[in-house]
Amino acid sequence: MNEIKVLLVSDHEQTLNFLKGVFSDFDNVESLTQKDLRTELDRISPDLIFLVESEKYSSVDLIDYIHSVNPDTPIVFIALTRDFDELRNITRAGVKDFFVTPDENTVIFGKRDVIIQSVIEEKKQREQVAITTESFKRGRGKILSFYSGKGGSGKTLLSTAFAQTLKLDSTAQVILVDLNFQFGGVETYLSIESNRSIADLLPVIQELNEIHIRNVAEKEMNSKLDVLLSPRDAAVVEVLPSEFVSKLLRTCRRSYDFVIVDLPTVFDEITFSALEESDKIFYVLNLDTPSISMLKQVETLFQRLGIETKERMELLLNEVGRENEIAPKDIKNILSYPIAYKIPRDIKGVQNHINKSEPFRKSPTDKKLIPFTKSVKKWVGQILE
Ligand SMILES: Nc1ncnc2c1ncn2[C@@H]1O[C@H](COP(=O)(O)OP(=O)(O)O)[C@@H](O)[C@H]1O
Ligand SMILES: [Mg+2]
Repeated sequence: MNEIKVLLVSDHEQTLNFLKGVFSDFDNVESLTQKDLRTELDRISPDLIFLVESEKYSSVDLIDYIHSVNPDTPIVFIALTRDFDELRNITRAGVKDFFVTPDENTVIFGKRDVIIQSVIEEKKQREQVAITTESFKRGRGKILSFYSGKGGSGKTLLSTAFAQTLKLDSTAQVILVDLNFQFGGVETYLSIESNRSIADLLPVIQELNEIHIRNVAEKEMNSKLDVLLSPRDAAVVEVLPSEFVSKLLRTCRRSYDFVIVDLPTVFDEITFSALEESDKIFYVLNLDTPSISMLKQVETLFQRLGIETKERMELLLNEVGRENEIAPKDIKNILSYPIAYKIPRDIKGVQNHINKSEPFRKSPTDKKLIPFTKSVKKWVGQILE
């Protein structure tokens, strides 16, 4: 039974453990508390949700919220009390089924497979409809963020080269988002001059859709990569509504296959929200002691803020070369994160491009790539496999 992803939402431990038992033979089961639902639901995007009644949160509000994020995801409601008025409201809000625990625990076990089967059927039907109406595939792009606690480690250089390569070497729809609100950066590596920026989305953030994004995005000339540029204005940060970044990235994800995010070194609400939304965080790491101790500090901060790194954060070793203080193989003994890729130090090649304001890639059949770009191309190739 690996076909569907089940999400259990509960802050009632006993019921959560019971439900985990119900799905013990499933591979794809995640659990969350009601508190984390708002930040995590969009990323997890489950096929079926078991929502347990909570003392702290209104069940109807939670159901409405789930419908607003994932309108197609069926919800099974597990009530802790037999309150008929409440159950009527729940049914009205739109749930697939409901049970009262612990009275109906055996019924839950008994009906499990019927529920699963119907969820699979409905999912298949939706996909069929989507294929015939050609809206298939949109809606679940990947958000990949480039982050590091250290400035100058190569975040912007790598995220731009990565996004451009991904666009040129595949048929995927790709957008690069520069979240360095204060200073920007991607425009220099891509030689784009424009007054348009992410800040132009501020007035429409409440009803933000794909068309707004495509209107504000610039196109990189060679690759036709869509780019959302930074306003390069610290004052914008001050008027940014707190949900701006998550709304922006979720909307991008619905209309692009890959959303590549370049983050600043500073750790603020913008960086925090972007990291929360990300499917993958590529932590750009140089092979020296200051970079490693900075990563250790970032790690502590992530833990304190509850940013999950397991199966999400990977190390992108940058400026790898003979003169490194630490060898890549020693990293495995110091840090537990998987290594996404090793990018060589290529001072001559990189400088040359930057000085001439020339993008690293121009066409899918580029000849004579510099070692830096070759390495990015190989890495992207592996991801696309
Ligand atoms: N692999 C590399 N080879 C050569 N130079 C590099 C490499 N990675 C980064 N650099 C240099 O470091 C500079 C800073 O990179 P940048 O991406 O702007 O850092 P960040 O965004 O992390 O602050 C680049 O302009 C480039 O000169
Ligand atoms: Mg940068």
